[in-house]
Amino acid sequence: MKLSNNKILITGGASGIGLGLTERFLQEGNKVIICGRREKLLKEVAQKHPSVVTRACDLSKEADRIDLYNWINENHSDLNVLINNAGIQNWMNITDEDFYDKANDELTTNVLAPIHLTKLFTQLSDITTIINVTSGLAFIPLSKIPVYCATKAFLRSFTLSLRHSLKAANIEVIEMIPPALNTDLGAKGLHNDFPPVSDFVTSIFEQLKEGKTELTFGTSGDRAKANNETIQEYFNMMNP
Ligand SMILES: NC(=O)c1ccc[n+]([C@@H]2O[C@H](COP(=O)([O-])OP(=O)(O)OC[C@H]3O[C@@H](n4cnc5c(N)ncnc54)[C@H](OP(=O)(O)O)[C@@H]3O)[C@@H](O)[C@H]2O)c1
Repeated sequence: MKLSNNKILITGGASGIGLGLTERFLQEGNKVIICGRREKLLKEVAQKHPSVVTRACDLSKEADRIDLYNWINENHSDLNVLINNAGIQNWMNITDEDFYDKANDELTTNVLAPIHLTKLFTQLSDITTIINVTSGLAFIPLSKIPVYCATKAFLRSFTLSLRHSLKAANIEVIEMIPPALNTDLGAKGLHNDFPPVSDFVTSIFEQLKEGKTELTFGTSGDRAKANNETIQEYFNMMNP
């Protein structure tokens, strides 16, 4: 993808990886629109970066996804990049009473929402690029976040098919595959020991400049290439 002069929607663009991408795409000379549930957080980002356009929405709600698309279509119909970054991570066990409800939330936010947004936004005539944020955990699961890992494996699979099927329409499909990074994903503090988002974003932009479409960083590179034996070794190490 070209790295400047785009109009980009970044879901979950007010925190963590999304915020890192927001700030870097701004630096590179792009117009950035961000959305998320927390209005206060969106406002804070807009105060720091006045050119950022914000929209509060809950992507787990079908009506909000449709409203978001209609609003973009009316006000920013020249949007050409969609970044499906928003996601949630639930630490849980099949024996938990609320397991099914939490699984439902994760499936809706991490799977249904990006699928639905992709369907909606590929209707925009200027769309050139879809970026899906999956995870190194799409390849080797951590059993304490069983549904989260499965949602990322789903999104990776969907992304491969999407890349193939949108070729004819000249729409590029890029997958960002972060390893564990220091964000508030799952809950504050869970990811404190992992690398900063800034290092990830620097590497991702180098790979985008090289024209790569599967962007890894640190351990996610090895995991994405692992054979069955290595997957089992990693699995045993990650799930002692
Ligand atoms: N950090 C890691 O270790 C890691 C590793 C691999 C992949 N990832 C992926 O990277 C993406 C970003 O995560 P992050 O680490 O940056 O964590 P984060 O800071 O918690 O970011 C998640 C973002 O998604 C938004 N979001 C969640 N549910 C939403 C909903 N229903 N509607 C609208 N927005 C919603 C959140 O905003 P609101 O709460 O305001 O709605 C937040 O801005 C996720 O897809 C995650 O799975 C993260």
